[in-house]
Amino acid sequence: MLSFTVIIFSVDKAIDYFSFVTIEKQMMKKADLGELSFREVLAKHDKATADGQASDVPRSALEALKASGKEVRIYDSSQQLLGLAVDGIIIADGSPLIFKGNIERALKGNYAYTITDNKLLYFAVPIQDKYYQNIYVFEFVDDISYFYDMMDQIRYILIAGAAGFLVLITISSLFIARTTTKPIKYLLAATENFSKQQFQRVHLNRKDELGMLAAGLNRMGIQLNDYIQYQKQFVSNVSHELKTPLAAISGFSQYLYEKESEDKELQKIYYHLVHESERLTQLINELLMLSRFDKAGLEEIGTEKTDLSELTKLVVADMKDKAESKGISLEVKAGSAVYVDVNKILMSHAIVNILDNAIKYSHAETSIKIETFIRQNEAIIQIRDQGIGIGEDELARVQERFYRAKNSTVAKGSGLGLSICKEIVEKFNGHLEIDSKIGEGTTVSIVLQRL
Ligand SMILES: Nc1ncnc2c1ncn2[C@@H]1O[C@H](COP(=O)(O)OP(=O)(O)OP(=O)(O)O)[C@@H](O)[C@H]1O
Ligand SMILES: [Mg+2]
Repeated sequence: MLSFTVIIFSVDKAIDYFSFVTIEKQMMKKADLGELSFREVLAKHDKATADGQASDVPRSALEALKASGKEVRIYDSSQQLLGLAVDGIIIADGSPLIFKGNIERALKGNYAYTITDNKLLYFAVPIQDKYYQNIYVFEFVDDISYFYDMMDQIRYILIAGAAGFLVLITISSLFIARTTTKPIKYLLAATENFSKQQFQRVHLNRKDELGMLAAGLNRMGIQLNDYIQYQKQFVSNVSHELKTPLAAISGFSQYLYEKESEDKELQKIYYHLVHESERLTQLINELLMLSRFDKAGLEEIGTEKTDLSELTKLVVADMKDKAESKGISLEVKAGSAVYVDVNKILMSHAIVNILDNAIKYSHAETSIKIETFIRQNEAIIQIRDQGIGIGEDELARVQERFYRAKNSTVAKGSGLGLSICKEIVEKFNGHLEIDSKIGEGTTVSIVLQRL
């Protein structure tokens, strides 16, 4: 738009410049012709004087030149007006508007002109005698408004053309935006959904590169979806297969541990077996829970109107001992009732997981603040610890299954806790928000729709 204005401005200035050059040239030609006629008169006068005849130069010159302008004037070398013709008629006495500066300049041998506001051009031409003395000035006045009218017409055509061009450019840009930007946005949204593991059909009704890209994305989505489903099914099958032998291992190791009272070394080994098989059982249970989530809908899970503040207080009470045994205090701020539509057992499982993390990844003598509140139409539980924190580059990944951050070596875990929380919360149309700074602490919020 700006460059367009600059172009219009420059073209307008160029029209002004060239119109003046043109009109100047035209007037010069006219002046030359006038000068020639005047010289002829002078030559005749010289001949007549030589023959002893009387001759009036200004009068004869005026006769010869009277039709060469709207007004024609003749001045002598002392700037006196000697004769005047208006519209081709010689006028005996007139007192016209005289630009003295022009006459002075002409008497010095130069062309001089002035254009008045009402578009009249006063053009003064020096006339020399045979001794090259500027003895007369011939001045013609022309109405050049026709020229300005013409320039205005050109300007009008130019501006109308520019406006048309601008409209055309705008329409074609909109057209290009519609045909190019819109499908690109559509494809971007599709890839965004893919990254959230939401695989919908991607299709563009066109045969060009964008259409091909859409078809390629669609194929990729189908393959990715199949692969993920296969992976989930595989984990689910393996977990099921492991459940029974693991229960046997757990039971037998517990039995052995309880029966062994003499050999301390063996007792230690059995204890280790019990502990590890419990950990494995928990892992298998979590994996089975995840696979149930993958299949189950909200109707199968079952929800009820729940006070989030109440539920949070219950969970915190259950976790108090665990926190205190590590020297960590739990501070709850869950005042007024905050109602949501969730499954109580699953939701407390999610809160336990987040609290468990907060305790696991915090040092002794720190506190964990648990708060429930309402933000517009959302109900939020916020758990804020003063622990080791998570690196910014890993924040987006900690909700993935089996992902453990670099700092997680301080505690044991399988990397499933947060992904289970995510699945639970998303089942109830909510989401997790995680904010963290290494060395300062982590804030995890469960954000749900309030009732
Ligand atoms: N409050 C926290 N402070 C610091 N790091 C955390 C916190 N919560 C989670 N993390 C990081 O995110 C990773 C994933 O957490 P997640 O709960 O899914 O797994 P986990 O605690 O390692 O194992 P699990 O919960 O299955 O026993 C953790 O390994 C840890 O690196
Ligand atoms: Mg965890």
